[in-house]
Amino acid sequence: MLTTRFTEALGIEHPIVQGGMMWVGRAELAAAVSEAGGLGMITALTQPTPADLVKEIARARTLTDKPFGVNLTILPSINPPPYDEYRRAIVDSGVTIVETAGSNPEPHMELFREHGVRVIHKCTSVRHALKAEAVGVTAVSIDGFECAGHPGEDDVPGLILIPAAADQLTIPFIASGGFADGRGLAAALALGADGINMGSRFMCTVESPIAEAVKERIVAASELDTNLIFRTLRNTARVAKNAISDEVVQILNAGGQFEDVRPLVAGTRGRKVFEEGDLDAGIWTVGQVQGLIHDIPPAGEVVRRIVAQAEEILRRRLTLFGDPAPVG
Ligand SMILES: Cc1cc2nc3c(=O)[nH]c(=O)nc-3n(C[C@H](O)[C@H](O)[C@H](O)COP(=O)(O)O)c2cc1C
Repeated sequence: MLTTRFTEALGIEHPIVQGGMMWVGRAELAAAVSEAGGLGMITALTQPTPADLVKEIARARTLTDKPFGVNLTILPSINPPPYDEYRRAIVDSGVTIVETAGSNPEPHMELFREHGVRVIHKCTSVRHALKAEAVGVTAVSIDGFECAGHPGEDDVPGLILIPAAADQLTIPFIASGGFADGRGLAAALALGADGINMGSRFMCTVESPIAEAVKERIVAASELDTNLIFRTLRNTARVAKNAISDEVVQILNAGGQFEDVRPLVAGTRGRKVFEEGDLDAGIWTVGQVQGLIHDIPPAGEVVRRIVAQAEEILRRRLTLFGDPAPVG
C-alpha cells in the first residue's frame, strides 16, 4: 500500500489522480478511476449548464460509492461561463473534493470551506503553489512543462519543479505532467511528491468517452508529436501535433495575432476531433507522455498497474539497500 500524506488527506487508497479534462472528464471515467482506489474528477465545464453538472455528479454516484472530485477551471474568457452557479452546483451536490485550475483559488475558498470541500489547486509554478497554500487549499497539484494543456510560461520540467516544490511547500502535493506508469509514480515519490496526477494516460482508456481513432493516434504517437501553441500570446498550450496546430504555430510565429487563428482554434472544432475521430478537424490536447502510452486498457487497470509497478520498484530498491554490505 502506497499510503502518503495525500491519500490520507483525501481519504483515497492510491496516490493517483485523474485530472480535469475538457470533453473527457465525464462520469464513466471519473467513477472508474475512483472505483479502483484512485481519485477521478468530473470536469465541470464539459457539462453545458450547472444543472447538467448536478446530473453528471448523480450519474457518477450510481457507478461508484468511492470519493470522486470535480474540476473547476477558470480561464480568462470573452464570454465567461456562470462560474458561481457551477460552484454552487458542486457544493449543493455534496461533492467534497474539488480540483481548481487556471487562476487563483482564493475567490472560491470561503464557500468551499463552509461546505467542508477539500481543494486541490493545480498550478505550474512554485510561487503559485505557495500562494494556494497560503489561501488554505488542502493540497497542490503541480504541472511540469511536459504536461498536456497549459504548462505556463516558465518552462520548468518536472525533474526540477517537483523537488523545488518539495523544498518549499508544507501541505501535501502531487506531481503532474509526463506520468503514465509505475516508474513515474516511484520517481515522483522519490522527488518528494505525495502522488501523481495524470491526464493523457487516462484519456487513452476504455472509459474515456472519446473516439477510438484519437486513442489509437495517442498509442501510435511519440513524445515528439505535440505542439506548443499561443507561445507568442503568453498563453501557451501543449496540444497534439496535427495540420491545424502546425498552421497555428506558423501563423503566430510569423507575427499573427489571436484574431488570425481564432477560426482554427475554435472549441467546436476541437470537440469534433473527440466526437467524430477526425484527427485534423481542430486543436486537441495531449501531452508528451503519449510516447509512453502503448495500449487502451480500462482506467482501473491503469491504476492497479501503476501501483503494482511502483511498489515493485520501491521494494526492489529497498531490498537492494537492505542487503548486508560485503565484508572485506
Ligand atoms: C484532453 C485534455 C483536456 C484537459 N482539460 C483540462 C481542463 O479543462 N482543466 C484542467 O485543469 N486541466 C485540463 N487538462 C490537464 C490535465 O488535467 C493534466 O493536468 C495534464 O493532462 C497532465 O499532463 P499529462 O497529460 O502529461 O498527464 C487537460 C488534459 C487533457 C489531456
